[in-house]
Amino acid sequence: MDERTLIDRLKLGPVIPVIGPKSVESCLEAVDALVAGGAVAIEITLRSEISPKALEACRKAHPDIVLGAGSVMDVERYDQAEALGADFTIAPGRCQEVEGHAKGRSLVHVPGIITPSEILQARRDGFHLLKFYPSEAAGGTSVLKDLGSIFPDVMMMPSGGITFDKLPGYAALPTVLSVGGSWMYAKNGTYRSAADMSEQMKLSLDAMLQK
Ligand code: 3PG
Repeated sequence: MDERTLIDRLKLGPVIPVIGPKSVESCLEAVDALVAGGAVAIEITLRSEISPKALEACRKAHPDIVLGAGSVMDVERYDQAEALGADFTIAPGRCQEVEGHAKGRSLVHVPGIITPSEILQARRDGFHLLKFYPSEAAGGTSVLKDLGSIFPDVMMMPSGGITFDKLPGYAALPTVLSVGGSWMYAKNGTYRSAADMSEQMKLSLDAMLQK
């Protein structure tokens, strides 16, 4: 998927559940419920042994969703994500090896940043779509508002510590493309019921789309 298509799809569904799978089955059940609630995009973090299997199972079950591979910090993970059918890769920070590897390839890579200097460098390196992580710990919407006025040409995908009540603040910022996190499928580290996941997903999309 190219960057333009990714941006267009995320504009329609600007809430990305970020899942670190506990098992392939529970991940798939969660993704089923989230998609039923309207999720356009799902991110699966490649931080455990079972994550690639979960990513592959989700791709097979939902060929049409935008599927991201998270925590992609080396070229092996990038290649793995591409082979398993991911649509984009995303990292918590700058990983020059991965970024160089991704240039000209079909799978968009989204580098992570937090400071103005990092944004300047990322722009210089040709990246205008960036992950702002860890968003809430780094100041959330008040920092993003300031960064947005200096860098209006950069689109942000904040995640980290975001909760439902914060969504109107993110929705109001023109440089925020999407928000990611776990609030819509888990509460205090425990998965919600499938019906609750669908409901929270729907409410979150409504909040971001200001319905
Ligand atoms: C991420 O990688 O973006 C985080 O895992 C988000 O999860 P959280 O909403 O639980 O902070």
